[in-house]
Amino acid sequence: MGLVLGAAAPSAAQDVAAGAADFSQRCHICHTGELNSAAPNLAGVVGRKAASAGFNYSAALTASGLTWSRPALDAFLADPMKMTPGTRMLISTPDPKRRADLVAYLATLR
Ligand code: HEC
Repeated sequence: MGLVLGAAAPSAAQDVAAGAADFSQRCHICHTGELNSAAPNLAGVVGRKAASAGFNYSAALTASGLTWSRPALDAFLADPMKMTPGTRMLISTPDPKRRADLVAYLATLR
């Protein structure tokens, strides 16, 4: 990553390295990037329409009409089942700092 991992900038609002580490621990198992099998590819997810990556999405996410702005991603990741009841994305991230880091990392995926 070319970035220092760990607590290099604990006060930074968004920490891409921390987000990357969290992603590899909790998200990568499904969102592997290329395969699009267990979960949709998240490359370019910031700014794209929800349920638009050619994955076999739930009806809930398909019908959501959402676009993944940073605030929309933040709300979704906090509690996906609350924002889009019926989604098959079941991993919640209640900690706001963790979400900010994750969204900062997601924004680097191209
Ligand atoms: C157990 C597998 C699994 C894990 C772990 C997982 N996801 Fe997901 N994720 C999914 C599935 C399945 C969907 C599609 C949901 C649907 O169709 O309702 C999804 C959808 C998403 C979407 C919307 C994508 C789109 O194309 O609209 C985002 C963003 C997302 N996940 C982020 C994350 C993040 C960040 C993490 C780690 C905190 C994570 N996911 C962990 C399975 C997973």
